[in-house]
Amino acid sequence: MQITRTIAELRAALDQRGRPAFVPTMGNLHDGHLSLVRTARARGDISVASIFVNRLQFLPHEDFDSYPRTWKADCAKLEAAGCDVLFAPREQALYPEPQVFKVVPDPLIANILEGEFRPGFFTGVCTVVMKLFSCVFATTGGGVAVFGKKDYQQLAVIRRMVQQFALPIQIIGVDTARAHDGLALSSRNGYLSVQERQKAVELSNALQELACETCINQRPLAELEAAAIEALRDKGWMPDYLTVRMRENLLPPQEGMREVPLVAIGAARLGNTRLIDCLEF
Ligand code: PAF
Repeated sequence: MQITRTIAELRAALDQRGRPAFVPTMGNLHDGHLSLVRTARARGDISVASIFVNRLQFLPHEDFDSYPRTWKADCAKLEAAGCDVLFAPREQALYPEPQVFKVVPDPLIANILEGEFRPGFFTGVCTVVMKLFSCVFATTGGGVAVFGKKDYQQLAVIRRMVQQFALPIQIIGVDTARAHDGLALSSRNGYLSVQERQKAVELSNALQELACETCINQRPLAELEAAAIEALRDKGWMPDYLTVRMRENLLPPQEGMREVPLVAIGAARLGNTRLIDCLEF
């Protein structure tokens, strides 16, 4: 695996090597990331991963400084997964001056759910992803980019961005990798205490239950969602949202329209750790 630190090094490494398939990450890699890399290997001529903890997508009180940086382990995992090129720019290489031009996504999809609880988050994500796309694809004439479905809204926002800017990039969403008990793999799982780790699967269980109720229970969705939130709160969580949305645009389905492709999506805090998860149904 070739490690590149600057945009020029990355572009030189990709020169004449066909269509890249790209996996952007913030490091602290787990099996979920590695399944994205395996997908990338199957979908492009050359697989590229990036590791960059993007300051722009963290609010001042969030965990930018403490976000786990596990460089050696990450390199070993990427190497073992068969990644061809790693792009790991230092902050100065990606943001040599304050990034004053930003990509502001459509508020209809970006200011709901995560965007409501983490204002500006998707502007930070879109800005860095657009810049990373420019680093990887500007000289290759396009390619493929691979994202996990766990960050369901992020995937939807990026699909919209690529569509609206007519970027020559095919976006692929990969199913969430889960631990043996069903907990969605996440870099933030490492923040959980032993007791919290045992309880953590309750979020995905709550989403399964909500999806199930949506299919069989004719009560209004708002009531089913409120009951799901209450039940999780009773178990000691602090839920931000648990809701059923249309997969297509993440808006609530109209009552009587439960036959369309749906996703149950949720975010909740357990102790000091905020987890998100989702379930398509
Ligand atoms: O999902 C992530 O890890 C990040 O949001 C991403 C896409 C790498 C942008 O920083």
